Amino acid sequence: MRAVVYKKPFEVAVESVPDPTIQHPNDAIVKITSSCICGSDLHMYEGRTAATPGIVFGHENMGIIQEVGPGVKDRKVGDRVVMPFNVACGFCKNCLGGFTGFCTTVNPGFAGGAYGYVSMGPWVGGQAEYLQVPFADFNCLPLPAGTEHEADFALLADIFCTGYHGAELAGVKPGESVAVFGAGPVGLMAAYSCLLRGAAEVYVVDHVQERLDKAESIGATPINYDVADPVAQIKELRGGEGTDKGIDAVGYQATKAGSSASGGEQDEVPNIVLNQLIDMVNPTGALGIPGLYVPSDPGGVDAGAKKGALSLNFGKLFEKGISLGTGQCNVKQYNAHLRDLIISGKAKPSFVVSNEVSLDAAPDAYSKFDKRIEGYTKVILHP
Ligand SMILES: NC(=O)c1ccc[n+]([C@@H]2O[C@H](COP(=O)([O-])OP(=O)(O)OC[C@H]3O[C@@H](n4cnc5c(N)ncnc54)[C@H](O)[C@@H]3O)[C@@H](O)[C@H]2O)c1
Ligand SMILES: [Zn+2]
Ligand SMILES: [Zn+2]
Repeated sequence: MRAVVYKKPFEVAVESVPDPTIQHPNDAIVKITSSCICGSDLHMYEGRTAATPGIVFGHENMGIIQEVGPGVKDRKVGDRVVMPFNVACGFCKNCLGGFTGFCTTVNPGFAGGAYGYVSMGPWVGGQAEYLQVPFADFNCLPLPAGTEHEADFALLADIFCTGYHGAELAGVKPGESVAVFGAGPVGLMAAYSCLLRGAAEVYVVDHVQERLDKAESIGATPINYDVADPVAQIKELRGGEGTDKGIDAVGYQATKAGSSASGGEQDEVPNIVLNQLIDMVNPTGALGIPGLYVPSDPGGVDAGAKKGALSLNFGKLFEKGISLGTGQCNVKQYNAHLRDLIISGKAKPSFVVSNEVSLDAAPDAYSKFDKRIEGYTKVILHP
């Protein structure tokens, strides 16, 4: 089959790789109809992880079941399904607790597995024609047959659920004010989720104009951090007050004001967003941090950053009594409910999708999404 293969920093290629096969009675083979490119893929693409050449990317996968092993009971050939980016068993201690992002079965020696991602186990990515899905009854979320809502459903594999997770970690409630840092796909989904949960005011901070425009289109207030300190801008709009809640949808590759849209080590300040959020949120508030932080970053700006050690204003956090939550999204906690909001017409997350292209266009799409140019905000590949 054809698949998107990582070659070296800033280069992927579409190449032939072996077709996946049923390895275990609980496996299914899914023919991919949609697989999205994620900001998380960019960390590998830019050489900012331990990913080695040859890995097939793609953890946001959706398609039609092509074949099932004899142990698969509820999913059938022909079913339309979307898979959480987390590969999970459903029966380990963490899965039983609902923490499917921290499954201890699928990636021995580590809590958490994913398709097509460095350190997340042997699972081949789905930016390809076919995908092997283990524990298929557990990992395949059934969808209505047909082609309706394809782009909305594809976002259930990761970013709609991850954005919602950011709002959940921050405990966003009706009537609250929230500052979301980052208007990438995750930040936009976090802002959208806060609005779905009834937040009264949502501010979205970024400096890529097309992304800020999308935030404004859903009813959030765009804040450009190149113009002035974003915390000061939001406090001014709120009569000097901070916000009830804050969400970091940027992660460790955060850049300072005035940097190029594509970022890069020379412009990075990995602790800037966390410290701004500690400043931003009112006493007794809460932070949700779905943005990625890594324990090892070969391109880190200094010795601390290379091992994920960041300097935080923890004294201020303590003084304000701010709580926080972080980590991989446990997609299965949310995907069925968010699917049903899409089916009922109450949610349409595909407003974030900017480009839908063939698998062959992946190298060009990676490059443009990475540079954040030409409006590339969220790309769906259709193999
Ligand atoms: N927790 C999870 O399960 C999970 C899942 C998916 C993605 N992620 C992570 O979420 C983060 C966002 O993902 P994405 O796909 O939206 O990525 P993205 O790279 O497309 O978006 C990041 C955005 O942050 C903006 N930004 C950079 N510095 C900033 C700053 N100082 N202040 C405000 N905005 C700033 C960028 O301009 C960009 O638009 C990434 O770190 C990704 O790895 C986590
Ligand atoms: Zn993703
Ligand atoms: Zn498990």
